[in-house]
Amino acid sequence: MNHNDGALLQCMNVKKVYGRGESRTEALRGVDFSLSQGEMTAIMGPSGCGKTTLLHCLSGMDQITSGEIWFQGQELHSMKEKRKDALRGSAMGFVFQNYNLIPVLTAVENVELPLLSQGVSPSVSRKKAMEALGKVGLHERRFHKPAHMSGGQQQRVALARAMVHNPQIIWADEPTGALDRETTDKVMQLIQHLNREEGTTFVIVTHDPRIASVTSRIVYMDSGKVIHEKRNDGGGM
Ligand SMILES: Nc1ncnc2c1ncn2[C@@H]1O[C@H](COP(=O)(O)OP(=O)(O)OP(=O)(O)O)[C@@H](O)[C@H]1O
Ligand SMILES: [Mg+2]
Repeated sequence: MNHNDGALLQCMNVKKVYGRGESRTEALRGVDFSLSQGEMTAIMGPSGCGKTTLLHCLSGMDQITSGEIWFQGQELHSMKEKRKDALRGSAMGFVFQNYNLIPVLTAVENVELPLLSQGVSPSVSRKKAMEALGKVGLHERRFHKPAHMSGGQQQRVALARAMVHNPQIIWADEPTGALDRETTDKVMQLIQHLNREEGTTFVIVTHDPRIASVTSRIVYMDSGKVIHEKRNDGGGM
């Protein structure tokens, strides 16, 4: 066992193969990666290089074919589904390109859902969801449904939902992919603020060099491997 207890997450020689025979795809071909608490990392690379697969594997949403993943000193790769779900529910948050909000629920109902499904009482869930919506500047829109909000507002609701349970890490797969430049800047400023104020670790898959430039570290992938890493001094939009 050679994992580093100081890291929030560490993976060693992670491989992921989809399908078999002619449809066999080696999506990850031996990835070594580590994340410290509080870090903001961008993952970049050409379409199909394995970025989304890496996010799914590192967060335990998807099974790896071989290798090891350690999260907070615990073996994620061999963990039973139920324990993995519980760990994800308490320690991780997720933001996707298309927001993934539930259309029939209001903003506050969307945000409180992860808490309710973890067994938090309705009154506490509501209170925390309200706070989270306040943090993303959407208190006034709390009773609106997603269809009645702009893309940027919907993504801020998704961000509130991802952070409502104070996770250690938020995984974001092209969170600004559907947003215009101005809205992208607003969402990124919010992410930077949460990273600084709450110490939340962020891993952001992006094609946008402007987004990558405000992270503390950029990891470049190609053909299922990490090919290069760069540290940023920080900066801002
Ligand atoms: N569920 C799946 N079944 C089979 N193959 C898959 C599956 N998901 C991804 N792949 C394949 O794995 C490889 C990596 O895909 P992945 O979605 O991780 O790429 P990506 O870097 O996120 O690309 P993009 O920038 O287009 O989102 C691709 O060749 C893809 O076709
Ligand atoms: Mg992808």
